[in-house]
Amino acid sequence: MSVPSTQTAIAQLIHGGAETLQEVQIPIPKPTGLDILVNVKAVSVNPVDYKKRSGSLGANKLAEPLVIGYDASGVVEAVGEDVTLFKKGDEVLYAGVLNRQGSNAPYQLVDERIVAIKPKTWSHADTAALPLVSLTAWEALVDNMGIPVSQKENPKSLLIINGAGGVGTLALTLASKVLKLKTIIATASRPETIAWTKKFGATHVINHNLPLGPQLKEQDLTFDYVFSKFAHPCIYLMASFGAPVLQPYLL
Ligand SMILES: NC(=O)c1ccc[n+]([C@@H]2O[C@H](COP(=O)([O-])OP(=O)(O)OC[C@H]3O[C@@H](n4cnc5c(N)ncnc54)[C@H](OP(=O)(O)O)[C@@H]3O)[C@@H](O)[C@H]2O)c1
Repeated sequence: MSVPSTQTAIAQLIHGGAETLQEVQIPIPKPTGLDILVNVKAVSVNPVDYKKRSGSLGANKLAEPLVIGYDASGVVEAVGEDVTLFKKGDEVLYAGVLNRQGSNAPYQLVDERIVAIKPKTWSHADTAALPLVSLTAWEALVDNMGIPVSQKENPKSLLIINGAGGVGTLALTLASKVLKLKTIIATASRPETIAWTKKFGATHVINHNLPLGPQLKEQDLTFDYVFSKFAHPCIYLMASFGAPVLQPYLL
């Protein structure tokens, strides 16, 4: 079946709340250069979506309908003339970029350099939940903190504030399965989030609604790395020469 020329996207004509989202007819773009055209099968909602929707990330004046949506999973429909990594029919995932039209549409253009092949055994819905949280966790733990990827157990310890959140869950998974850290302390406050963090690799769990110091002391715990948006209370508890990473406030 050939690609139609227009599509019905979920878009907005002004920034604002969820009530600004509406169905809008827009052209289906043709891929050129390194772009691929993806038939989007599933998307997920990320904090960046509502920030972009509300205009808090800037660009308040909308010259054309704005399609938000960053995380996506789909099937390659067509490729630009310089594309070498993908072909029509490939199943892919990606997190998109802020300055292009998003994934809340049947068809979306994305640069092949930020796309990966979807694992065959994952559904599109499961896959769409992963790109941005995984990238954020990887950038923090590996690119910024410099924790080495290793086949052997790493004797160092990591504290993840907000272990059960989207980013925290992927940080736990990477820390335990890929970085093989011996001690991974996560924070969570409810029975279900405590169980969740343990399932994804926390060796110890403490409660972020209570002072952290006494809980760490009680379990004779210290940490070399901390991954947190809420770093200020714990920074003083950190081992000498540890490496804090702060998540960008806007994202
Ligand atoms: N999602 C992304 O891809 C992404 C990317 C870049 C940056 N960020 C930023 O990273 C932050 C976390 O995002 P997320 O999507 O991972 O979070 P999320 O999924 O919304 O996190 C929800 C969890 O946060 C925990 N929480 C609530 N208040 C807390 C506090 N004061 N201290 C520690 N934990 C607390 C709660 O755990 P309990 O229920 O156990 O209390 C709750 O289950 C946000 O500021 C977001 O903007 C997110």
